[in-house]
Amino acid sequence: MNNPAPRETILSLFSQTPDGFVSGEHISAELGISRTAVWKHIRTLRQSGYVIEAIPSRGYQLLQSPDVLKPESIQADLECRRVGSRVRCFDETDSTNLQACRLGDEGEVDGLVVIADRQSSGKGRMGRRWESPAGVNLYASILLRPAILPFEAPKLTFLSAVAVCRAITHCTGLQPTVKWPNDILLDGAKVAGLLNEMSSETDQVHYVVLGIGVNLNMRVEQFPADLRYPATSLAIATGKIVSRLLFTRALLQEIDALYQTYLEEGSAPIMSAWAELCDLKGKAVQVDCNQLKIEGIMVGLAEDGALLVQTVTGKVENIYAGDVRPA
Ligand code: BTN
Repeated sequence: MNNPAPRETILSLFSQTPDGFVSGEHISAELGISRTAVWKHIRTLRQSGYVIEAIPSRGYQLLQSPDVLKPESIQADLECRRVGSRVRCFDETDSTNLQACRLGDEGEVDGLVVIADRQSSGKGRMGRRWESPAGVNLYASILLRPAILPFEAPKLTFLSAVAVCRAITHCTGLQPTVKWPNDILLDGAKVAGLLNEMSSETDQVHYVVLGIGVNLNMRVEQFPADLRYPATSLAIATGKIVSRLLFTRALLQEIDALYQTYLEEGSAPIMSAWAELCDLKGKAVQVDCNQLKIEGIMVGLAEDGALLVQTVTGKVENIYAGDVRPA
């Protein structure tokens, strides 16, 4: 991650302390600036809508963030080469993936980011619905135009997964894990989901859309009662509100850096970063592939991104779609 701007560092310090208090002295030491300069940054943050209380002998406490996702605040000093060069924010849309595909068909650029405060038809995997209430989470789609063959595109899911995990760790200190093919978990509960889509012809990808939904500040009562899996949010896991703006910026910077790696070195470094985040390797798993259930030991990933499961017969199955769970 590149060096964030001073005010971003201050905001991330708030989310890293156990009691939410950060002393002016600590900020000044972290940033290498004077206490007066710290105070000026706090004043600017207050002017941009952050409610920050100062308690003598304890320090500053962030009580509320403005947290409106706007292109200007997302793009301000963003250290990205491609991702975020264009940002479109909607108060409401059907699905950011659908929007990004429409914009892709109209010729929008590599690196376009589409964000919505709320989705009326948020899309999950396998035709499922992605719960998308307003004001609490991140619903983002990133349009990429890599010069790759269509069979390569599914591997970009691993890129989004690693980027989401790194952004979560950067903003909260938590260590998420990944579940093949596109879930991000905290202590076994789903905190983010990924849905990549693409437009292509036989030998050419027109564009890939990385769809990313992260449960940032969703409360327990906002999850649907009939969820198929245990779910959580960063706020539930940490007991603190996470800045949507800060998280979005961190995520875009991570995606941009990994995309650069992908273009320069291919998918291998990204797939090994994904494998490091996967805690099911070597464990017994059960995979639901439509009507078929496969049980065995997860032995790793194939070069093309397929899940490798060794069954009792000793045969290693290459699985391309399905729901995995610990057996
Ligand atoms: C899953 O089922 O786990 C995938 C969920 C993907 C949800 C995100 S939210 C942003 C983007 N727009 C959509 O309609 N879906 C993806």
